[in-house]
Amino acid sequence: MSTELIKVEDFYPPATFKRLKDLADTKETPFVVIDLETISEHYDTLVEYFPYASVYYAVKANPAPEILTLLRDKGSNFDVASIYELDKLLGLNVAAERCSYGNTIKKSKDIRYFYEKGVRMFATDSEADLRNIARAAPGSRVYVRILTEGSHTADWPLSRKFGCHTDMAIDLLILARDLGLEPHGISFHVGSQQRDIGVWDAAIAKVKVIFERLKEEDGIVLKMINLGGGFPANYITRANTLPTYAEEITRFIQEDFGDDFPQIILEPGRSLISNSGILVSEIVLISRKSHTALHRWIFTDVGKFSGLIETLDEAIKFPIYTEKTGETEEVVLAGPTCDSADIMYEQYKYELPLNLATGDRLYWFSTGAYTTSYSSVEFNGFPPLKSYFV
Ligand SMILES: Cc1ncc(COP(=O)(O)O)c(C=O)c1O
Repeated sequence: MSTELIKVEDFYPPATFKRLKDLADTKETPFVVIDLETISEHYDTLVEYFPYASVYYAVKANPAPEILTLLRDKGSNFDVASIYELDKLLGLNVAAERCSYGNTIKKSKDIRYFYEKGVRMFATDSEADLRNIARAAPGSRVYVRILTEGSHTADWPLSRKFGCHTDMAIDLLILARDLGLEPHGISFHVGSQQRDIGVWDAAIAKVKVIFERLKEEDGIVLKMINLGGGFPANYITRANTLPTYAEEITRFIQEDFGDDFPQIILEPGRSLISNSGILVSEIVLISRKSHTALHRWIFTDVGKFSGLIETLDEAIKFPIYTEKTGETEEVVLAGPTCDSADIMYEQYKYELPLNLATGDRLYWFSTGAYTTSYSSVEFNGFPPLKSYFV
């Protein structure tokens, strides 16, 4: 498989692209440039199409203070993965009540830290963690993360490591009550960049079973469903639009819950942030591995270790734009470090113009999320990926 040349207008309105490009032209590569206005618009769209839901931004997607401040002021809540993210939020005057500790893997002392700072909502998926929460954060609300299907249709699957089976979720919520915690609800994450909306249907149906079983057999009334992230960003592989996701998912909830609509939480990361950003890189070297090789290797000043880790297994296929045009040829794209794992795309062949030369810029579209926060601190001496905000 190979690509055609990427067109700007398929990914950014002309005015947005101009804003980003104007700033980018003044900076040394590599860096990510982010348009805050786009994030603001994406947030508004999310709230418009899911008017009944509370948004908990998944801070891990991009923890830049500029983004956290913007979302704080727009009324977002926050899905927090560590004490470090929590400190950052508290430092920006985000109230602890607006934070949920969404990581199911956590130290007891970190649970205590969240509790002391005022956080009262915790995710869990195991008995050991639940008992830690009961000790370190007594009386808090807990929700249990369940396993879901959908790893084959998600570009960045999150299954296996997180979540538990339905039967265990039921037992954990009963235990939560017995330990003095408040059994609050169920969460799931169907996998990031989930292209099959139907997997939410299956997950919500599972949740319905858990709600009913607990109510009928144990008198526990759950109140909340956390539908996770998984909503789409705009990459090379096509996905439906957010309004289509919202319409379908709302219908699934209505079909299962009718008038008894539970509280709904969303934890978007990628869908909110990705399309606000462009990673700007420069070509370091172009070579062929033999005189007769049919494709070139293009080495750029960004790679797997400086923000493009989601090219692992070529999972996320970022649209790559160049200002050059003309005859194209297939290329292998690789990063600048002395590690042979630092190849972004080798199986999936990007077509790029033959007249590309050292020093030309490549623009990696939809890179606002999961780039800067993944960038290594000093591998091969390269500094972490910078970001600038418009
Ligand atoms: C608990 C949790 N919620 C939300 C998200 C955000 O998911 P996405 O980026 O697909 O929106 C993640 C991503 O890893 C997550 O772990």
